[in-house]
Parts: sequence; C-alpha cells; structure tokens
Amino acid sequence: MTILVTGGTGLVGSRLLRRFADAGVDCRALVRPGKDVPAGATPVEGDLLHADSLKQAVEGVSAIVHLAAVFRTQNEDDIWRANLDGTKNLIAAAKAHAPQARFVMASTGLVYDADASHPGREEDATHPKLAYPASKIAAEKELRNSGLNWSILRLGFVYGDGDGHLAAVPALATRFKWHPARTFSLVHQRDVARVVELALTGVMDGRIVNICDDAPTTLYEMASLVGSPVEPSAEPLTNPWMGRMDGSRLRGLGFQLTVPTVYQAVQQGIL
Ligand SMILES: NC(=O)c1ccc[n+]([C@@H]2O[C@H](COP(=O)([O-])OP(=O)(O)OC[C@H]3O[C@@H](n4cnc5c(N)ncnc54)[C@H](OP(=O)(O)O)[C@@H]3O)[C@@H](O)[C@H]2O)c1
Repeated sequence: MTILVTGGTGLVGSRLLRRFADAGVDCRALVRPGKDVPAGATPVEGDLLHADSLKQAVEGVSAIVHLAAVFRTQNEDDIWRANLDGTKNLIAAAKAHAPQARFVMASTGLVYDADASHPGREEDATHPKLAYPASKIAAEKELRNSGLNWSILRLGFVYGDGDGHLAAVPALATRFKWHPARTFSLVHQRDVARVVELALTGVMDGRIVNICDDAPTTLYEMASLVGSPVEPSAEPLTNPWMGRMDGSRLRGLGFQLTVPTVYQAVQQGIL
C-alpha cells in the first residue's frame, strides 16, 4: 500500500511522514521543485497548481492524504488558488489515475461561524467570511461531490513535537488584536497522525470529522504556556462559543486521544 501525502514539507505533513516512515508505511510526498525532500518519503516532484504534474504522484497509490494548503498569508488569491484550484486539480488527477484510492483531506475548524450557539458540529451550516475557511469549505464540497472515496478531517489548532506553532500565538494575538479569552480547540501532532491512520482504515469514509482534544483553551492560557503572557481583559468576549469544536463524532468512532489536553503535553515535554 503506497500513500501519497501532499504538504509533506509543512508543519503537519513533515511530522506525519516521519511517523509513517517509523511505522514502515510506504509514502510518496508531492514536493515542489526546489523544496527539501521530507524525511521518510519518496519524493515526487509536482505542484498542485500544475495539473499535468500530478499524474505521476497519484498513479498506483491506494490512498491520498491531502494536507497541502496556503493560509499563512494575507494574499487571498494565493489562498483560493492553492486550496480550491489546487484541490480540484488533485481530485481530477485522482479520478483519472487512481480512482479507487481513498482520499483524506485536511480542512479546518475555522469553518464554523463566529456567532455559533454551541461548539461547531460537522452538520452545522457554515458561512465562513475569510478566504482560508471559505476556500476549505469550497474544496470540501468539490471532494464530497467527486465520486471518490473521501473523508474530511476538520483539524483544530495543531501543535506539538517542537513545531513552534503555539509559540507563534502571542504574536498573532497582538497582530490581529485577538481577545485573550478567545478559545481554540487544539490537537497534538501525535493524535493528528493517529487520526490519519484511522481514516486510512476506512472508518471515516464519506464523513466529515472534527479533530480536536478534550480541552478548548484560551489564547491567554496558550500564551502563558509558551512563556509570553498576553494582557488580560475585563471586556467580555463577544461569543464564547467561537473557536470551539465538538469532538463527539471522532470519539464515537472509537478514537482515544493520547494527548487529551495541552497541559498533558506540557507535563510530557512534547510541546
Ligand atoms: N497547523 C494547524 O494548526 C492546522 C489547523 C487546521 C487545519 N490545518 C490544515 O492542515 C494542513 C496542513 O497544515 P500545516 O500547518 O502543515 O501547513 P503548512 O505548514 O503551511 O504547510 C503547507 C504545505 O502545503 C504545501 N503547498 C502549498 N502550496 C502548494 C502547491 N501549490 N503545491 C504543492 N504543495 C503546496 C507546502 O509546500 P511548500 O513547502 O512547497 O510551500 C507545505 O508543504 C492544511 O491543509 C491546513 O489547512 C492545519
């Protein structure tokens, strides 16, 4: 069984590939020209934006784990191009050259509405305004209507294994003026990899699944954990549900977290 991973040079993909290599899984990684080859995978040069480059990446694979995306930029055109057009190209390549392959796509918990009245659930109607979540919802729709064997993982804020992601939060908070009580559903890299493994068994086929741990955490707490406290605020948070995801569907599939809270990650030294 060969698995194609896109986004293998990214925060999530590089850690996933290392874990899969340690477990003896045969992985290919789609790598853009000039980029470093991720450890633990056979590189296949290609670019989501160049449809013709994807045939050799998908041919012969039994599963595709599509992590590649653009979202750490203010350039909305780049975001839409990579996340929607790039995903469309990958879907077309899979339909043409690997129609039996299981197609697992990473999406985001940011798709849920800011005025939600409960933690975001997979069946909620969503109306994201920002380019990143809107492009992910559009890509989700393409995949759901593709006729492929799909599953969609809506990831919470991923952190851990030295990825530096949590440490970036205080600067983001200052830049975007986030309220210190703004809450994030989190998930450790270790559990993301285990969820992808589970998705590859087929139990998530045809489903959207929220991927998050047991303890939504405030920005204030996250910043304190990485040693860069943010200013407290006496102003109430507009909507305390914003940013929270409901993880019960994942639990219902039998998944057990190995890192249920960020505090456990701190104790174990795996931030
Ligand atoms: N990290 C999180 O907290 C988080 C939370 C929710 C959802 N997610 C989702 O999880 C996935 C992985 O996130 P991440 O944090 O690992 O992202 P990341 O660190 O920004 O990595 C993005 C990856 O996408 C690749 N990529 C971008 N455009 C491409 C293109 N045109 N062709 C081929 N590859 C391309 C990049 O390759 P280059 O090295 O060539 O640029 C890189 O490997 C994304 O789908 C994201 O939406 C992440």
